[in-house]
Amino acid sequence: MTASVVEWKHRSSGTTAGAAPGWYEAGLAHIWLPYAQMKTVRPPLPVARAEGCRIVLSDGRELIDGIASWWTACHGYNHPHIRAAVGNQLALMPHVMFGGLAHEPALTLARRLAALLPGDLDRVFFSESGSVAVEIAMKMAVQFWLNRGIRGRTRFIAFRGGYHGDTTGAMAVCDPDAGMHSLFRGLLGEHHIVDLPRDEESAAALSRLIDRRAGEIAGIIVEPLVQGAGGMRFHDAAVLRHLREAADRHDLLLIFDEIFTGFGRTGDMFACQAASIVPDIITLSKALSGGTLPLAATVASGKVFDAFWSDDPARALMHGPTYMANALACAAANACLDLFEQEPRLQQVAGIAAAMKRGLAPCRGMPGVKDVRVRGAIGVVELDRIEDLDGLRARFIAEGVFIRPFGSTVYLTPAFTISPDELETLTGAVVKVVSEL
Ligand SMILES: Cc1ncc(COP(=O)(O)O)c(C=O)c1O
Repeated sequence: MTASVVEWKHRSSGTTAGAAPGWYEAGLAHIWLPYAQMKTVRPPLPVARAEGCRIVLSDGRELIDGIASWWTACHGYNHPHIRAAVGNQLALMPHVMFGGLAHEPALTLARRLAALLPGDLDRVFFSESGSVAVEIAMKMAVQFWLNRGIRGRTRFIAFRGGYHGDTTGAMAVCDPDAGMHSLFRGLLGEHHIVDLPRDEESAAALSRLIDRRAGEIAGIIVEPLVQGAGGMRFHDAAVLRHLREAADRHDLLLIFDEIFTGFGRTGDMFACQAASIVPDIITLSKALSGGTLPLAATVASGKVFDAFWSDDPARALMHGPTYMANALACAAANACLDLFEQEPRLQQVAGIAAAMKRGLAPCRGMPGVKDVRVRGAIGVVELDRIEDLDGLRARFIAEGVFIRPFGSTVYLTPAFTISPDELETLTGAVVKVVSEL
């Protein structure tokens, strides 16, 4: 046994109230956790099951979930409608390759997404994670120019505070300084990471950049309305309108990364609708399958798709993930869309927004609190700094809630189905824990 295995076995005792399950003890020393310094991170909590807005730990403790598993489980966990759809599909066919074969769940989902999205965002390319959906969007944009016979348009304009994923192409358009990939700064491709055009000065700087460099730029990529994992920062719809105008002026492609904001999270079904803007490409994932199975989509407009439409095989999009359009995941996504159609999700989001505004308001003015903000079902308490992130996360567990601050931000992104009592428990825990910092 290596020293690290022994150390982990030692540290994991105490994670549960009673004895940890055998699978936990046996497996923990072999797992590599996300976003974690393995030497110092607190071991994860063993989960037995999840239902609605509750996570049930193996020792029987129940936590009210404030995060919806990185914003995916918009209808709550284990929703019977999604479970049934996945079960039915499993009985027929869990998966077939998407090369040369097609199936009903994928084609139905593509049709439904095209109908839901604004404008002519009509062509759906499926993949299995948000980062890959972003890679595909970037690849589509670069090839869009190559297919038109224009070489050299390989760079992107992206924004400070932005986050687009953890694969190398996506990392290269994240905030290079404040983001989590700063170690790789300058190593992954030279893009232009600038301030969002929020005011005259930043808008003028963006215009100057585009005037000088348009010939090398494939497109602009942005998380519309809310920059999520880069710090839960909000901006106005006017910023997006400005980006659309700037892109149109110089014929750049505009990519909206709605992996976080899509499917109701900001209050509209898609954030682009709040600005009445149609991007050229949109990326979707997370809540697309209601938090059940990995699925992502890169959806192209007619203009983008047309650049690939040719008798020349070299102009094809050479991409095809093995588990592309997985039938179980597409069945889950169709069921997820049913729930958006049948249940008043956007009204629930508006209710959550109002309750979070009330519930988090006491944090305003507390020592160490920089800002309190809410948009849709996203509630944020930004602190000056968080000294002990792991310790703060543990404080929330002790309060019976699962809330996972990052950077200097404590945030809530609950399921849209959360009950008023559960939401009050979450906001109450935030107020209590922040007041004790
Ligand atoms: C806006 C945005 N883009 C891309 C990603 C990457 O998605 P995934 O973690 O599924 O690769 C995320 C994940 O948080 C995201 O919020």
